[in-house]
Amino acid sequence: MRVVLIGAPGAGKGVYAQYFEEKYCIPHISTGDIFREEIAKGTELGLRVKQYVESGRLVPDEIVIEVVKKRLQQPDTEQGFILDGFPRTINQTRALDDIVAIDRAIYLNVSEEVAVKRLSGRRVCPLCGRVYNIYYEPKPRVDEKCDYDGAQLIHRPDDKPEVVRERYRVFHETFKPVIEYYRSSRRLIEVNADRPLREVLPVLEKVLIETGVLRVPLCRDVKIE
Ligand code: AP5
Repeated sequence: MRVVLIGAPGAGKGVYAQYFEEKYCIPHISTGDIFREEIAKGTELGLRVKQYVESGRLVPDEIVIEVVKKRLQQPDTEQGFILDGFPRTINQTRALDDIVAIDRAIYLNVSEEVAVKRLSGRRVCPLCGRVYNIYYEPKPRVDEKCDYDGAQLIHRPDDKPEVVRERYRVFHETFKPVIEYYRSSRRLIEVNADRPLREVLPVLEKVLIETGVLRVPLCRDVKIE
């Protein structure tokens, strides 16, 4: 399946992608994760994108498109992938269709109120990237520690309320033409992302299987909390 996940900060792009990655072994590619890794390593790319990511502004199209193009050339994406956080602008959307044919765009439509609460409770494992929440499932079994590797969970610096508000503003400035692009080519699936994962995920999964988008053999069974 070649799918893109579109949604405001806190819509759940990361947790939806994590579910499909673990259950179907489909690579989850998050442009935000790639940038955070490069910033942490202090690479040339990291230095170029740092100011944008930390202030919640969009990284320029030409940089993001180049990064995604390179990542989609890796052999693990041959059977499909889930793109999380890309495309975000109409230029990125058109560029992606020139790189590879996308089966579906899933728009996770979340209200601002719900998303802000989720981000204030979000915790991320710095080692494996798993996402938890102190208010909602999945919660870590042991306080502030990753269930898988025991690492101390972190609260992302760009989850500070003032940066979240800026990320919101930026998302709402650019996402509409992206949604319209996929709607007009009949590839858009819209999901009410305010609802709990256990209600939404099975329905979404069924739609993806019935439309032939999800064909990759099951990798392992994953429980929805
Ligand atoms: P990025 O990392 O992509 O941030 P974002 O889009 O703001 O998305 P988030 O990671 O905050 O939200 P999410 O939807 O993944 O939520 P999650 O699943 O974690 O980008 C960071 C920055 O990089 C950008 O600001 C920009 O500077 C740059 N960048 C990245 N891509 C770019 C691009 N294409 N172009 C230009 N610049 C780019 O869920 C949130 C929390 O809620 C979690 O704790 C989760 O457990 C919980 N939760 C989720 N869903 C539910 C649910 N249904 N019920 C209960 N809890 C839930």
